[in-house]
Amino acid sequence: MTPRKPIVGGNWKMNLHRAQAVDLAKSLVDRVNSNEDVEVILFPPFPYLEAVGKVLRDASSPIRLGAQDFYHQPNGAYTGEVSISMLADLGVTNVLVGHSERRHVIGENDVLLNQKVLAGLKAGMEVMLCVGEKLEQREANQTDDINAGQTRYGLAGVDPKDMARVSIAYEPVWAIGTGKTATAADAQNAHVAIREVVARQFSTDIAQHVRILYGGSVKGSNAPELFAQSDIDGGLIGGAALKADDFMAIIDAATNSVSA
Ligand code: PGA
Repeated sequence: MTPRKPIVGGNWKMNLHRAQAVDLAKSLVDRVNSNEDVEVILFPPFPYLEAVGKVLRDASSPIRLGAQDFYHQPNGAYTGEVSISMLADLGVTNVLVGHSERRHVIGENDVLLNQKVLAGLKAGMEVMLCVGEKLEQREANQTDDINAGQTRYGLAGVDPKDMARVSIAYEPVWAIGTGKTATAADAQNAHVAIREVVARQFSTDIAQHVRILYGGSVKGSNAPELFAQSDIDGGLIGGAALKADDFMAIIDAATNSVSA
């Protein structure tokens, strides 16, 4: 069994303002500083990347700075968009691609998301591709097909060497922000199926190394059971990432899952 270092990502979405973002980052920096078992990434809104990045830098924190989205073109007439090199300028090292809110609220499709994955990797970023089925797809027994399609399209054309910088977040859409969580067993099954897709698309070795995170109403109370599953390598956290105590409880659960 390959040991995979779990990732806990805090996806702040379109929440918090500057002072709150800085305060949250400061309390996390104080508490996460010495954690070597878990990779922690914060994904603040664009306008606060610089301020949060400064908190992390000033404390020489191991917490990584992530962006929730970007545009794949290097520069040009793309009003309202943000390029990878602009993010790199701010100290961003990690990017999300294809969060379900980008897919289903904003309307991004697999072709665009694949361009973003490739552009993110080309620029040296760590890329977290999000996949997951909607409720009606789950009810129609399409969960594995949807995840397989989004994974295959998302990672099409990725150089196998770059897969070390790719992680996948499985987030069933019906579980995001709803208080409903997939059972640990359902999540584990979905993760195994996604890992098999990666094995077929790349290699068994790459599939064994790729981190697959679970997301969707993860809290301190359900994180231990989820993270105890052998194919769940941490979590992408929304609501519970907005308060230091709640987020720390999840980081602790990930840390304990390593030592367990
Ligand atoms: P949630 O969001 O934890 O609030 O369900 C997770 C996510 O969308 O990344």
